[in-house]
Amino acid sequence: MHRRPARWTANDLLGKKDLSPMPGFPLDDGIIEDVIRYHSGLPGYRTTPLLPLRRLASSLGLGGIWVKDESKRFGLNAFKGLGGSYAIARLLGRSLGIEAGKIGYERLKEAAQGVKPHTFVTATDGNHGRGVAWAARTLGQKAVVFMPKGSSRSRIDAIAGEGAEVFVTDVNYDDTVRVAAAYSAENGCSVVQDQAWEGYEEVPTWIMYGYLTIMEEITGQLKESGEGMPTHVLLQAGVGSFAGSMVAYLDHTMGQDMPKVVLMEPEKAACLYESAKSEDGCMVNVTGSLETIMAGLSCGEPNPIAWGVTRSKAAAFVSCDDEVAALGMRVLGNPLGDDPRIVSGESGAVGAGLLKLMAKEGSLSGLGGRLGLDPSSRVLMISTEGDTDPDRYRKIVWEGAWPLERR
Ligand SMILES: Cc1ncc(COP(=O)(O)O)c(C=O)c1O
Repeated sequence: MHRRPARWTANDLLGKKDLSPMPGFPLDDGIIEDVIRYHSGLPGYRTTPLLPLRRLASSLGLGGIWVKDESKRFGLNAFKGLGGSYAIARLLGRSLGIEAGKIGYERLKEAAQGVKPHTFVTATDGNHGRGVAWAARTLGQKAVVFMPKGSSRSRIDAIAGEGAEVFVTDVNYDDTVRVAAAYSAENGCSVVQDQAWEGYEEVPTWIMYGYLTIMEEITGQLKESGEGMPTHVLLQAGVGSFAGSMVAYLDHTMGQDMPKVVLMEPEKAACLYESAKSEDGCMVNVTGSLETIMAGLSCGEPNPIAWGVTRSKAAAFVSCDDEVAALGMRVLGNPLGDDPRIVSGESGAVGAGLLKLMAKEGSLSGLGGRLGLDPSSRVLMISTEGDTDPDRYRKIVWEGAWPLERR
């Protein structure tokens, strides 16, 4: 490693009562049941694999490592369809006077037939837009998707392949969100954005509810295999909606016993890390090109709902160089002994890279020590995408290229 691969800050507010004025994220068992009911009725639903990496755990001096492989979600190569599908169901259900979470996918689809299709609009780095396009199509609806400048051809094609109209802007992700919202308002469509702002909180809350399926499945899978819940959970963040949802679930179901949560972001888009470091604990936006190989995490403005959830519940915030993600991709793609191979993309693998660096003699073992990583630790990671940009995946894994322009 030619320079410090990551910077971190431990959370001084951990465990303290959150006094922030941020909007809340109400959660109860009924919501979790509704979300699972809706998702399990969708075409192609099956529980994604939770893979134990026993050999890697013992080589890193840990008690256990589990990776939830979300590349297997609905054939979309990423987890994001969970959020978009649940939010679109709630929006469509409301317009039809139906409670989508209660009646499920088949009956919602039936009710939507014969009614003029509605258009759902979103901005995306790739995965969320593909999920929205897919979810709209499964219900016979339309989607318009905006992508930031520099979006890769394979990600654009994947969204268009789900039947959406795709526009690439000449601005970064956060500004593209504003472009999409303006288009939607002008054309009488509905915005399905995984980011909240003042007056737009309901849909992003539903999207975060949609992600709960992941942690509910994990809880069931660990129970079934006779394993306890993890002691540490590593979560990657763009705007933080995914991490916020996972943290809220753990807090709701485990309370005082909840695991230590580490939030990871790319260094040029580390808005939650910067927010955690800010003197007054207020949210900080990061601006500029936000350039990183972790395309799904390239967001400079935190979701205020997610920040409200994570600011007093995450143990540490970490700003990672691209090489941490590249390392994680190689670690997961080249398993030890009979550990399973996991094809994990740039935004999915950063946890595996960080874990390697935090373990025993790694260059971030100070952070590992602070988090109490030791032979009794059971670490959970969620590989949120597969090789969503296959050319880049191969360049990184075969040629050691990260970011590509350095080579
Ligand atoms: C693969 C992947 N992982 C993680 C995330 C982060 O999600 P969030 O923006 O909710 O923090 C994204 C967001 O698009 C993603 O595409």
